[in-house]
Amino acid sequence: MKAGISGIGSALPSVLITNEDLARRLDTDDEWIMRRTGIRTRRRMGPGEDVTTLAVNACADALADAGRAAEDVDAIIISTVTPDYITPGVAPLVAAALGATKASAIDVNGACVGWIHALDQASALIETGRARLVLVCGSEGLSRITDHTDRSTAVLLGDGAGAVAVTAGDYDLGLPPFALGSDGLHLDLLYIDQQDRVLRMRGAEVYRHAVARMVEATETALRANDLSVDDIDLFVAHQANARIIEAAADRLGFPRDRISLHVQEVANTSSASIPLALHQAERAGALRPGDTVALAAFGAGFVWGAGVAAWKEELLTTTVRTRRPEHAHAD
Ligand code: ACO
Repeated sequence: MKAGISGIGSALPSVLITNEDLARRLDTDDEWIMRRTGIRTRRRMGPGEDVTTLAVNACADALADAGRAAEDVDAIIISTVTPDYITPGVAPLVAAALGATKASAIDVNGACVGWIHALDQASALIETGRARLVLVCGSEGLSRITDHTDRSTAVLLGDGAGAVAVTAGDYDLGLPPFALGSDGLHLDLLYIDQQDRVLRMRGAEVYRHAVARMVEATETALRANDLSVDDIDLFVAHQANARIIEAAADRLGFPRDRISLHVQEVANTSSASIPLALHQAERAGALRPGDTVALAAFGAGFVWGAGVAAWKEELLTTTVRTRRPEHAHAD
């Protein structure tokens, strides 16, 4: 039995912040932000919105997209560095709101790589027969951990959530193991400490590590699956900023029309960024059932990870099966 992505959903909070809005109160401007980051707008949570409600909406969307019911969900894994409570985690609250009464529900904190880790865990649960339907969601309210007076980080971060439904099936590629790694020696380059509780970063050094580690991990994942860049329909890297994504894509050899760039609209949403980008790509027609995606992320720790996945392979196999049911016994 293999695991595969069969539904996607996302949710963005209501408050839109443009570069011009930031330039009115910080020593920055649209031209600098666009040139150095590729970011034009970001969303922030407003009254009545929190990380849990974003996750509930993204998960409900993903479940509906997969055509599955909440009572069939075996596990919910929420990746977040900005939970609404220190405890409980977001996941049990999401399970209750969805009516996923038999689901296990935990959060993971893997910085910007958390969603990739959660996806790998979901796949492992399914491959080992411990689950048949897992919701994997990244939900972040980074505006909570932003120093809104620091122009070097305030322009980079946004809020949002994205989720996929991972299901058991007779898939071809499905969701094979990811290449994951860590190096805790670089704590001082990217962290949020308990005292000031806002993101501190040495941007240029983070940039160099991010590109190098995402490239290596993606190459490892491609090799492990006997795939080349030519086999990949879309490269979806953590949407931290456009220059990191383009630098990694260039080194790997992805042409610009096969990379996802959603950061322009939503900025860096940490572990929500890849599922948000996947949903945006599908809605834009850049991702179709049967496509193969390569995913890569890097974040505080440092931690990193990359892998490949078939996009909604279930829809292809369903189509094939319904097209030739009378011949099924002869197969
Ligand atoms: N507007 C105008 N000027 C600015 C701004 C701003 N918003 N921010 C910084 N500057 C200035 C700096 O003060 C500096 O000025 P100085 O030369 O007078 O000292 C100058 O611009 C250059 O600063 P650098 O930090 O060297 O600029 P750089 O070209 O490296 O770009 C950036 C900064 C965009 C943060 C870049 O380093 C980067 O993208 N780093 C990666 C960070 C990242 O996204 N990490 C993702 C992992 S973290 C996570 O996902 C949660």
